[in-house]
Amino acid sequence: MAKRLTELTWDEFKGFDVYEKGACLMAGRDHVFHTLVAQQFDREFLDELCDLTTTIRTVAKDKEGMLFLKGLLAHKRAMLYFSQPSSRTFLSFSAACQILGIDTEEVRDTSVSSEFKGETQEDSVRTFSSYFDLIIMRSKIAGLAERMAWVLSNSDRPIPIINGGSGRDQHPTQALLDIYTLQRSFEDRGGIDRKRIVFVGDLLRGRTVRSLATLLMQYRDVEQIFVAPRQLQLGEDIQELLQKGGVEFQLTDDFDSAVLEADAIYMTRVQDEWDDETGDSRKIDTSRYHFTATHLDMLKPGAIIMHPFPRRKEIAVEVDNDPRAMYWRQMRNGMWIRSALIAVTFGVDRKIASYA
Ligand code: NCD
Repeated sequence: MAKRLTELTWDEFKGFDVYEKGACLMAGRDHVFHTLVAQQFDREFLDELCDLTTTIRTVAKDKEGMLFLKGLLAHKRAMLYFSQPSSRTFLSFSAACQILGIDTEEVRDTSVSSEFKGETQEDSVRTFSSYFDLIIMRSKIAGLAERMAWVLSNSDRPIPIINGGSGRDQHPTQALLDIYTLQRSFEDRGGIDRKRIVFVGDLLRGRTVRSLATLLMQYRDVEQIFVAPRQLQLGEDIQELLQKGGVEFQLTDDFDSAVLEADAIYMTRVQDEWDDETGDSRKIDTSRYHFTATHLDMLKPGAIIMHPFPRRKEIAVEVDNDPRAMYWRQMRNGMWIRSALIAVTFGVDRKIASYA
């Protein structure tokens, strides 16, 4: 039986592998509290969260339903602590909070907070916990959200932390919205099981790919194909996880063959903000990994094109109006599934189900 965060020292928790950490986060809980890593979620959780997301979407369609949702958590406040650039994750979390009636406040620029005066991020987060009931955070530091969750769990005001992207490592809620998008798209074709998912781009430094590849392990016989130039291929740690999990996967640089075989193709941009740490990606020619209008003829009729966004030139704008281009709907799904996650975090999911 896994121990809870309150039963562990920071060094003990930090020393665990990512699945052990996931188990500690869920230990002794009947609903999720901190959301930190994709590895903390199992298939049952994913299925239930997708169902709840659909219920919220349906309830929110009319004014009466929206007013019901808005009343659910009107007594809660959330802090959006985003010290790394963000558009979609920030806005969709903010909208998700609004759907449930949660008031939000934000720190996006730490040069105007006390961090500028030398305050540690730990003290900042403890300060937020004095005024708020939930912290949603994005940071360029891998593992920072984990540290803060441990600190808060062991404080006198343990409030939940949701990781909105940490370093090059994890982006669990993006993976959740990606799963929901896949689930919806393949609803009439047996769901995500037995599908072939193709990842393209900067797989080494893209945290969305790392988190989604992990969640896909919860589905039966999903084949994962990773298409990238050698220098940007998937990290060895994730390859090892896939291997251990018995996942069928392939690393390749053959983009065109992968397009032909894909049920879903997940495009990503080059993450050159990490170049100082991991080499100069501007020297790599990635143009042959771009999805153009020509590729539409190669893609299966029922396949879908995804992208976590922001995009640069990975997907030509001409592709946007094809019914298989799913990225705009994927983005909107983020708002719905994030509201479902927050609803579960505060335990109001059953109320929503009975209203519906
Ligand atoms: C991604 C991120 O921040 O990791 N964006 C997002 O949250 N939708 C992908 C990216 O920045 O390329």
